[in-house]
Amino acid sequence: MAESLINAIIARSRRTRRPRLDTIETIQTRESYLTMSATLQSELQARLGALIDPHSEQALGEAIRVSVRNGRAAVRVRLNYPAAGWHAELEQLIEQTLMHDHAVEAATVEIETEHLAHAVQGGLSPLDGVRNIIAVASGKGGVGKSTVAVNLALALQAEGAMVGVLDADIYGPSIPRMLGLSGKPETTPERRILPMRSHGLQAMSIGVLVETDQAMIWRGPMATQALQQMVSETQWEALDYLIVDLPPGTGDIQLTLAQRIPVAAAVTVTTPQDVAIDDVRRAVAMFAKVRVPVLGVIENMSTHLCSECGHEDAIFGQGGGQKIAAEAGLKLLGEIPLEATLGRSTDQGAPLVGSEGDHAIAGRFREIARKVAARLSLQARNQAIRMPKIKIVE
Ligand SMILES: Nc1ncnc2c1ncn2[C@@H]1O[C@H](COP(=O)(O)OP(=O)(O)OP(=O)(O)O)[C@@H](O)[C@H]1O
Ligand SMILES: [Mg+2]
Repeated sequence: MAESLINAIIARSRRTRRPRLDTIETIQTRESYLTMSATLQSELQARLGALIDPHSEQALGEAIRVSVRNGRAAVRVRLNYPAAGWHAELEQLIEQTLMHDHAVEAATVEIETEHLAHAVQGGLSPLDGVRNIIAVASGKGGVGKSTVAVNLALALQAEGAMVGVLDADIYGPSIPRMLGLSGKPETTPERRILPMRSHGLQAMSIGVLVETDQAMIWRGPMATQALQQMVSETQWEALDYLIVDLPPGTGDIQLTLAQRIPVAAAVTVTTPQDVAIDDVRRAVAMFAKVRVPVLGVIENMSTHLCSECGHEDAIFGQGGGQKIAAEAGLKLLGEIPLEATLGRSTDQGAPLVGSEGDHAIAGRFREIARKVAARLSLQARNQAIRMPKIKIVE
């Protein structure tokens, strides 16, 4: 009896001991698996972090995080600029990097976008309802600054941002025509001006507030006062970017505006001819004086694109914009050809980027928009602006 009890206890302890041994083996296997996963994860993190963002020209670094489990990778990318038109390509690039030499079996990629507010000139307060103001400037008139401003605004919108356009070109406001604005804007009971709406954009122009003939006779101080009033009294609603079409040139009015509008950054528009270099230099010097960073140069009418046959002709010679940008110490953000559809559509109030989104030139504007916003995202932040954080997760 006693013996059989002892045998039974031994048998039970064997039974109980065995699974314990199994558990230890399992733990060991899992541990080595986890170590493998951890090694693989840090290796993949390094690989992905080294990918270069073509818009900011910086490595993705901390903006991309990967975790690996059971041979499956989950990747999260956080971008601080709108890039809807790049997401598919980025996802593909990430998947290729992960699948390279069969590192993982499967991967999921999530891209989230958070628009941040960036610092403005010292002493100025940011505008209510606006995260970032970007000034579009040119050293001289007629280079297509307004055409670029409205199409750039629409391109930022197409990439996923909330965008507004402010026409500060007091002596030649062309935004009402280009965005098809008519009538007078409404005002709130507090006498704030409500922006007009067009093609999904919020828009305001000195041209819809006062008669152009009246504005034409205003002298500098009166003109800048009127513009400043328009800037401060318009009630923008949750904009990520407000594109300001500045008057052409680098005179007193432009300098005063560059000093008084709380601008996060500027871009300059130029044509490719050699003579344009002095105009670009003057614009750069003006913004340097008021400590506004210039993100780069957009070359307009760089080539002639035949809207019939698609032939592209470098009528002003090649590389003009690149040379101008380099000589002014700036980045060339992109080149827009001279093309009849672009001019016609914009002059008729249906700018190409909004009306013909599949057009090759719309694609160029969208790439420029991503570069502009990505370069701005590298600038110092503005902690003073508190707007609800909106995350777009795909
Ligand atoms: N890339 C382009 N292709 C075809 N037409 C263009 C292009 N860029 C501008 N234009 C046309 O050239 C004219 C001048 O352009 P826009 O009004 O944009 O220039 P601007 O620099 O703003 O001029 P201003 O100094 O008078 O404000 C417009 O009729 C516009 O449609
Ligand atoms: Mg103009």
